[in-house]
Amino acid sequence: MACTNPKKVCIVGSGNWGSAIAKIVGNNAAQLKNLDDRVTMYVYEEIVDGKKLTEIINETHENVKYLPGHKLPPNVVAVPDVVEAAKDADILIFVVPHQFIRTLCSTLLGKIKPNAIALSLIKGFDRAEGGGIDLISHIITRHLQIPCSVLMGANLAGEVADEKFCETTIGCKDILAGPLLRDVIQTSYFRVVVVDDEDTVEVCGALKNIVACGAGFVDGLGLGDNTKAAVIRLGLMEMVKFVDVFYPGGKLSTFFESCGVADLITTCYGGRNRKVSEAFVKTGKSIKELEDEMLNGQKLQGPYTAEEVNYMLKNKGMEDKFPLFTAIHKICTGLLKPSDFIDCIRNHPEHMDTKSYDYQSSQKSYHRSSSKL
Ligand SMILES: NC(=O)c1ccc[n+]([C@@H]2O[C@H](COP(=O)([O-])OP(=O)(O)OC[C@H]3O[C@@H](n4cnc5c(N)ncnc54)[C@H](O)[C@@H]3O)[C@@H](O)[C@H]2O)c1
Repeated sequence: MACTNPKKVCIVGSGNWGSAIAKIVGNNAAQLKNLDDRVTMYVYEEIVDGKKLTEIINETHENVKYLPGHKLPPNVVAVPDVVEAAKDADILIFVVPHQFIRTLCSTLLGKIKPNAIALSLIKGFDRAEGGGIDLISHIITRHLQIPCSVLMGANLAGEVADEKFCETTIGCKDILAGPLLRDVIQTSYFRVVVVDDEDTVEVCGALKNIVACGAGFVDGLGLGDNTKAAVIRLGLMEMVKFVDVFYPGGKLSTFFESCGVADLITTCYGGRNRKVSEAFVKTGKSIKELEDEMLNGQKLQGPYTAEEVNYMLKNKGMEDKFPLFTAIHKICTGLLKPSDFIDCIRNHPEHMDTKSYDYQSSQKSYHRSSSKL
């Protein structure tokens, strides 16, 4: 029997990851009775080979610019107007580069269903007034007055679109929304674990892109796998510390979900932040030049996230407590040479006899485990 009130899904975004997730959500919506068949996808309109990208997607069912070579299900409909795409949706999946989220939220304010729920796949932070940072899910909730869960994981978009097995993490506190969101996203090759530690999931997803820049510098400098492993480990320790200091109450176990260690590793080996950072060291060109040259319209996250994190650390006089994040920001902005990178982390607090940051005591402030929903 057909469901009387199937939920409508809208995907706000259509880049590399947005398109890969549209393939999954479109297929699930076509099969699940509690979801409406038609999935709208907001596409930032642009002209590709003389034709509108929305028209190309709706005619060929392929996002030829951001996910070429993969067919989207025909029930995914590209819409160039975000209000039109989102107005009837019960579930809004946000997947745009983080720099566009505030403008999109202002456009959507008052134009969506009041009882809609959101899921953010966006990795990054925004600056908050008064010298801090804002989580993207908090911005969505505050601006649109709807709850916003998050999805982060070791999910390079191309591999997900190729249907290669991977895991992901949804952070959702609501025991009813968690399973619903899992059903919208999960497939036999894309396995979802839902935890209630929303903020830690999101912070992991943002910070790992900074560490990926460090991994790219290591590659660019011709250093080896041992050095890269050290950068990944120190990065992980700074991620743990960051949550401990700025989002107390987070759970250490969340770092062992796909959104934590797994995403960190995959991003430090594959992914655009690592690739561009390697080229940054080898070519001497600026990050912006390389982003334009190498990514065909895709956006980098790591250098911008490093900048936002540094904005807060500087304001709080805490740059020296996060030497890896700080060095990566200074290298990306030309304040330090890439060749100085290792010297900046040689005397990391992690290497001091008496660590300025006591990891043992920090573990006590973490809850031992995350509740699975
Ligand atoms: N690509 C991945 O493998 C991956 C995986 C997990 C998470 N993410 C995250 O997903 C988010 C979206 O990344 P993506 O890979 O889908 O995008 P992308 O970088 O591939 O593409 C950029 C997108 O931004 C759009 N855009 C450009 N100018 C715009 C504007 N002014 N307003 C609105 N949109 C505009 C473009 O049309 C395009 O859809 C990011 O936060 C990213 O970190 C990406």
